[in-house]
Amino acid sequence: MSRTQIPNEAYAPTGAWYVAALSSELSVGGIVARTVLDHPVALFRADSGQVFALEDRCPHRFAPLSSGVVKGDSVQCPYHGLEFDGTGACSRNPYGPVLRAATIRAYPVEERHRALWIWMGEQGQANPALIPDFGFLAEAPDTAFSAGYMHVAANYELIVDNIMDLTHTDYLHAGSIAGTGMVHKVKPFTSEFPDRIEVCWFAPDVPLSPFHSQIYSSLERADQLVRIEWYLPGIMKLTANFMPCGRPEEEAFSNTNAHFITPETKTSAHYFFAATRNYSREDIKLNAFIAESREKAFATEDKPIIELVQNRMGSGDFWKLKPLLLGVDEAAVRVRRRLEKATREEEAHATPRGSGF
Ligand code: FES
Ligand SMILES: [Fe+2]
Repeated sequence: MSRTQIPNEAYAPTGAWYVAALSSELSVGGIVARTVLDHPVALFRADSGQVFALEDRCPHRFAPLSSGVVKGDSVQCPYHGLEFDGTGACSRNPYGPVLRAATIRAYPVEERHRALWIWMGEQGQANPALIPDFGFLAEAPDTAFSAGYMHVAANYELIVDNIMDLTHTDYLHAGSIAGTGMVHKVKPFTSEFPDRIEVCWFAPDVPLSPFHSQIYSSLERADQLVRIEWYLPGIMKLTANFMPCGRPEEEAFSNTNAHFITPETKTSAHYFFAATRNYSREDIKLNAFIAESREKAFATEDKPIIELVQNRMGSGDFWKLKPLLLGVDEAAVRVRRRLEKATREEEAHATPRGSGF
């Protein structure tokens, strides 16, 4: 595939693994329609259990295959019945011999970490080793795991910005999932690595918010440590630790969460999130409480403000709007620079890159 398959101005690298869906969204025989980087994709789980991703447009009269049905290891077009297997080859033609020329694009897919990862760049470049290790998601028992999906009408980098700068939790989430309300009072520490950018906040000996007091009832005050790891393009791990004051991180009530952000178009994105924890792992009620609280905060606090930001930005380029930069923006700005570099390198026909630099 060449980069010219991106119909609009490039706004994200194609040579990267994106999360197209959560594994739980596709049972055997299921089909999910999802647009990634402006490409309509039909994901389906064959009878074998394997997931495939095909261009969601039949080559005959352009019906969406995602409206069809799974037949064995193929998907049948709903309009006139042509069938295509996971390689994109026509596997059945009800009107005669199989048509070799009737092929559609197949995208490499990997099922890992309870998610379905799709490669939007050249097939030969799709190296599964580039998928960051989010093994903690599969290791968590179901009673200490929750996940969700949200469509956001905003450029994916605005969601990445939101997570790279957690000072917003002290304001936007002050009445809901805020931790100690002290994040904005401590200096974040940003580090760059070949494969990721990390940012940490450490707030010692701070009172817990009403929300967190419900979860950590044995703590009145805590040392709070939040660490975010970003991997190209929108793959993020957020660890929020609450330690008894003065105690080491190993003794923390630890929450390790995933945020997977995938561009749909230049101004819309798919937002997948998942949460795990190291305490009270059998507590189903606590699990539901954390899942509902987080999802509600994303849906009623983060998503609306991010969509309003996109609305105020219009189609204007982020940098051309001359955003005011604060010290707390350092990590987010570094991420934007890396994304821009990766995207521009592809534009210039340089070797597409995955999660590593
Ligand atoms: S449009 Fe798919 S078989 Fe005709
Ligand atoms: Fe938030």
